[in-house]
Amino acid sequence: MSEINSGTRSRRDFMAKSALAGVALPHVHAAENNTIQVALIGCGGRGTGAAVNALQVKNGPMKVVSMADIVPAKLNDNLDKLKTQFPNQVDVPPERRALGFEAYKQAMDPLKPGDVVILATPPAFRWVHFRHAIEKGLHVFMEKAVTVDGPTTKRMIELGEQARRKNLKVGVGLMVRHCRGRMALLERIRGGQIGDIIAMRAYRMGRAGGTAPPKPDNISEVMYQVQRFHAFLWGSGGVFSDYNIHQIDECCWMKGEWPVEAHGIGARHYRRDSLDQNFDTYSIEYTYADGTKLFFGGRYIPGCREEFASYAHGTSGSAVISTFMHTPGMPRIYKGHVIPRVANKTELRKAEDASAAWSYPQPEVSPYQLEWDDLMDAIRNDKPYNEVKRGAEASLVASMGRMAAHTGQIVTFDQMLNHPHEFAPNVDKLTADGPAPVMPDASGKYPVPEPGIKIDREY
Ligand SMILES: NC(=O)c1ccc[n+]([C@@H]2O[C@H](COP(=O)([O-])OP(=O)(O)OC[C@H]3O[C@@H](n4cnc5c(N)ncnc54)[C@H](O)[C@@H]3O)[C@@H](O)[C@H]2O)c1
Repeated sequence: MSEINSGTRSRRDFMAKSALAGVALPHVHAAENNTIQVALIGCGGRGTGAAVNALQVKNGPMKVVSMADIVPAKLNDNLDKLKTQFPNQVDVPPERRALGFEAYKQAMDPLKPGDVVILATPPAFRWVHFRHAIEKGLHVFMEKAVTVDGPTTKRMIELGEQARRKNLKVGVGLMVRHCRGRMALLERIRGGQIGDIIAMRAYRMGRAGGTAPPKPDNISEVMYQVQRFHAFLWGSGGVFSDYNIHQIDECCWMKGEWPVEAHGIGARHYRRDSLDQNFDTYSIEYTYADGTKLFFGGRYIPGCREEFASYAHGTSGSAVISTFMHTPGMPRIYKGHVIPRVANKTELRKAEDASAAWSYPQPEVSPYQLEWDDLMDAIRNDKPYNEVKRGAEASLVASMGRMAAHTGQIVTFDQMLNHPHEFAPNVDKLTADGPAPVMPDASGKYPVPEPGIKIDREY
């Protein structure tokens, strides 16, 4: 604790004397310990990955000092991994390892204003944890999706404004927005190299996702659902929001605006005995204000062709936004509309296609690292940095496509934003043994969307 306390005291003294007390200050005080402390809330795969990226930023010392989760093994196993990789940058003694639904508060306690918290739990908890981080004056890195429905989107945008007023820097894990190759592509598209965009298409087609076998007897309803958060719409927005947001967002980025409405179809074909709330196919037609389209196809069925790519078509050419998965993006421009399709990693060489009119030089730096380099540059050099509104709107656009397919109706951006259905209104009061935001019926089944039957709400 001594290191934290000494750092805390010196900064608090400084802030008390500052006319800016209450406003987060940039970490440029050369005379004092310049280490930025990091708390990790949600110690799963991505949270641990984000901590690794944080500790690899080169613009000043960083240290992970506290961690929170609801599952002891997740915290302990990933703490061990972090300590092995960064023995001098991870200092999380037992008193700074917090467990349970209130653990996020304990994990943020040792931090001082100007430190950083990583929010990487399932998206449902994002606004709750973000609200607390703002109260504590912390900079934030939060994973996508940041909202799952209309009410939480409005709340998140308002919280983003609060963070801006306190000069807190906030990064949202739509890392593709930090990819230098996609940035170069955007510049070329804006420069007219494919003409005007008339259509875009994106695919996320893989083997499976978001299933939920029957709940074992030895786990509570809440713990079961949280650990299977892709299966439950309140937890994640389902596979549609959680998986597809990146590609929907990167297409909207290239277009330079959000779509005004979504029309969609989808169905449960082979969920078999899975109790989740997802469909296993989705086909969404997003429409922009000028009438141009983004077609998104999602399929989570083993044995089918796989594709994980995004494309833009313009009046005088086309572009690859993502080739296969998020990185390397291998962005390219073609003079016509014939683009080789890449179905797996071994086919990436097809992307080094001589027929491309332009391609971004390889290799690319991982955007997962670049998003952290950019965030920490903003924190250390006090540059404006707040990705919350953009992240919340990207989450809303994902929800809009999902709702269109789940209800069988056209859903507009404004309808989605103003829709009153909040999937988990009491998520800030959740307890391990209390009722869950969605409960099974007498036959043990959870409500699933029924297009054409349930048309005003997804379930
Ligand atoms: N940007 C990307 O490419 C990317 C990739 C994967 C995941 N993600 C996002 O990261 C987030 C986490 O996904 P993941 O794959 O790491 O899942 P995960 O299940 O591996 O990790 C989530 C962790 O959060 C913990 N947790 C759940 N509720 C909690 C709570 N209330 N308080 C504290 N801890 C809690 C879980 O026990 C688990 O350890 C999701 O929002 C997901 O969409 C982003």
